[in-house]
Amino acid sequence: MQMRTIEWKDNAIRIIDQTKLPASCVYLTIRDLETLGKAIKLLQVRGAPALGAAAGLGVYLGLKDSKVHTYAQLSRDAEKIIRYIGSSRPTAYNLFWGLARIRAVIKKNRSMAIPEIKKEILEEARHIIEEDQRSCRSIGAYGASLITRNDAILTVCNAGMLATIDYGTALGVFYSAHAQGKRFKVFACETRPLLQGARLTTWELKKHGIDVTLLCDSMAAYLMRQGKIKKVITGADRIARNADAANKIGTYSLAVLSHYHKIPFYVAAPVSTFDPHIATGKEIIIEERDPEEVTSLYFKKPVAAAGVKVCNPAFDVTPHELITAIITDKGIIRPPFGRGITKVLTS
Ligand code: MRU
Repeated sequence: MQMRTIEWKDNAIRIIDQTKLPASCVYLTIRDLETLGKAIKLLQVRGAPALGAAAGLGVYLGLKDSKVHTYAQLSRDAEKIIRYIGSSRPTAYNLFWGLARIRAVIKKNRSMAIPEIKKEILEEARHIIEEDQRSCRSIGAYGASLITRNDAILTVCNAGMLATIDYGTALGVFYSAHAQGKRFKVFACETRPLLQGARLTTWELKKHGIDVTLLCDSMAAYLMRQGKIKKVITGADRIARNADAANKIGTYSLAVLSHYHKIPFYVAAPVSTFDPHIATGKEIIIEERDPEEVTSLYFKKPVAAAGVKVCNPAFDVTPHELITAIITDKGIIRPPFGRGITKVLTS
């Protein structure tokens, strides 16, 4: 399946509009920053690594037609754009990592002419994209070693090609194992309230010919109790230095359930998802989203009493002690995590 979730095409950002899936796979061409900001907030483009790419391309998009003549003006405009993109969603570290990379490139090339600096910005955004393609395949290769024949693996949200450039992290592990000829079952949690598991993961896995079964989030414990789940593999949005890992809301519950049922719980993520600035998951900002996502968005009629108070955190943090291992693009890190994380962050 040769598809790119996000790319630079015809002098604009082109994304697959994920709000339209699985009914239709349509592309959206983004020519201005406001449309990009909206696309990120509405989850037309989503998933930590894809947001890293959106950040890189977004700064270029915002600067490419600017008429400024001095480095000081360019740098000031770039900072404004970086602040704007950085205010779209708070949790995925890749978004901020992508912005920081572009900022560093602007600073490093400060003595160049303005058009040259702009070219370097686009180059860097393209590097972010190419690196993600390589990272995901590397995560896939490391993770595939954990998959056995006739395995049964639970996942949540969408950590697939739609969350990256074209392959995926948790789902990249499945693609890699599948390509090695291993046959296994995947169970996809629907992922309330925005249904990334039902809408996106089942769509992707079916396209790849991978055996996938959809379940409501509340059914996981029942299946685990029956021995139907052998391991859990999820993605991550931000990982602290102690391996506490933020991911889609519901991930923590799965980790607790895995612990109780003695099922290995793996997190798959590139090194770009590790936030070196935070010691523990307590420092991770959890996005709170619109109540309507819970009460009515995917329903024909509202499913809750009008005006009811709603709690809609988009992510939760799984404490490191519930994580069996982290599958990264630089290898599999096992507890105690501290040393392994420092090693991948500094190598
Ligand atoms: O709100 P979303 O859909 O952007 O949340 C995405 C996730 O939680 C993914 O699991 C995570 O970003 C990893 S994607 C490889």
